[in-house]
Amino acid sequence: MRAKDYMNVMQKILHYIDEGVHVINKNGDTIIYNRAMAELEGMNPEDVLNKPFLDIFKSLDRESSTLLNVLENGKRIENQKQTYLNKYGKEITTINTTIPLIFNEEKLGALEIARNITKIKELSETILNLHREISSPKNTMKSKIKKYTFDNILGQSDAFKKALFIARKACKTLASVLIYGETGTGKELFAQSIHYGSERRDKPFIAQNCAAFPESLLEGILFGTAKGGFTGAIDRPGLFEQANGGTILLDEINSMPMELQAKILRVLQEGYVRRVGGLKDIPVNVRIIGTTNEDPKKLLEENKIRKDLYYRLNVLFIPIPPLRKRKEDIIPLAEYFIRKYNEKLNKQVWMLSEKGKEIILNYSWPGNIRELENIIYSAMSMIDDEHVLNHNYLPLYNSSEEKEEENLGKYIENLENENLDEFLKNIEKKMIKKALSSSNGNVTKAADNLGIKRQTLQHKMKKYEMK
Ligand SMILES: Nc1ncnc2c1ncn2[C@@H]1O[C@H](COP(=O)(O)OP(=O)(O)OP(=O)(O)O)[C@@H](O)[C@H]1O
Ligand SMILES: [Mg+2]
Repeated sequence: MRAKDYMNVMQKILHYIDEGVHVINKNGDTIIYNRAMAELEGMNPEDVLNKPFLDIFKSLDRESSTLLNVLENGKRIENQKQTYLNKYGKEITTINTTIPLIFNEEKLGALEIARNITKIKELSETILNLHREISSPKNTMKSKIKKYTFDNILGQSDAFKKALFIARKACKTLASVLIYGETGTGKELFAQSIHYGSERRDKPFIAQNCAAFPESLLEGILFGTAKGGFTGAIDRPGLFEQANGGTILLDEINSMPMELQAKILRVLQEGYVRRVGGLKDIPVNVRIIGTTNEDPKKLLEENKIRKDLYYRLNVLFIPIPPLRKRKEDIIPLAEYFIRKYNEKLNKQVWMLSEKGKEIILNYSWPGNIRELENIIYSAMSMIDDEHVLNHNYLPLYNSSEEKEEENLGKYIENLENENLDEFLKNIEKKMIKKALSSSNGNVTKAADNLGIKRQTLQHKMKKYEMK
């Protein structure tokens, strides 16, 4: 392709991609400024193209502009948040990756790829303000927010009672807690019950999901920001300061980037926070509860959680078993939700039909208790004036993969000290037998169904002395 054609292709790519692209030359003048960049900065390309960068972005300087910084220092910057004003004074927040353009050791300029996060940033500010309003003493909304206590937790199975036992102990100490459970198993319910069952019950309980925001914003949300930290930053306390004296729930802590995990560790060890861009250490006294929906052992193995943070957090560990592993809790929970929705929806359901019970007992409940509650709620909404909740209202089907896994799981549970090699051979024999029987002894067809070569099957049949 000729250089001119390459240029045309490049122009098209730049026009159609959704990421903002901004390139300046070594004098600091803009030479490329694509459609997405113009949109996210609320400008016209003509406003910017071929003009000196600082003439347009007046709130930035050689230090705070990522483009000029990279041009000067020649070092790339990745995923850095930048807040600045556009030509018309509107505040823009982007996350930038900025790369020096150096060819044959000659500095030609700098390239920036930007994502607009103005909306997400506004959202994070709304969250902070809402938390602040809610926890202010004169707030009337406070009483309307549902507070969970141990009275709302139901469960009689041994595994579940163990979790409850540790949670009740947690009320009497200030130790950090790590709660592990699949989605919908009641992690938030446990965390709130611990807070409202502890001496801190009159102080704030603040929950923040760590997976919901990019790192730079999450840091601002948790630690607050200080004026001058970055252009446009204002003095604002973060959630740690807002939760002072109370409890902070760091939901899905396994999604938190490592660097931020290190900062959480510092709060735990030293008891103070420093706002982003601030110089002061502010003492905070906050109890931390973390949750994870992945096995902590796996998280450690895969380096998704810092070891030091894990050991600091894991003083009390509460594993909440999934519903399918505590079948004896299913019917009592279903009946509890029936009572709840009788009252809410003004119905008169007295019981579950036998078939209904069987169906909910055999279902695998991937969404756990939240799913069970939703199913009962939707069944109860459909019922008119019946007194028995019939299985027709419970459309639950396990996927066939789950069924196979469940059957195999049951099979394995019933084994006693089986030798792995013997066990695998046994399974192999059973599968071959089944495949041969459904192909009426046709070896080629059976091999096909098993996904192996005919010769391989014949070899195995010989080994196991099968006809
Ligand atoms: N043991 C329980 N007894 C009664 N209700 C429960 C129990 N466990 C959970 N629930 C109910 O199930 C729903 C989900 O619980 P919760 O939000 O605490 O789950 P979670 O583990 O935090 O889920 P996710 O990981 O999706 O955030 C809530 O409505 C809660 O009241
Ligand atoms: Mg939750």
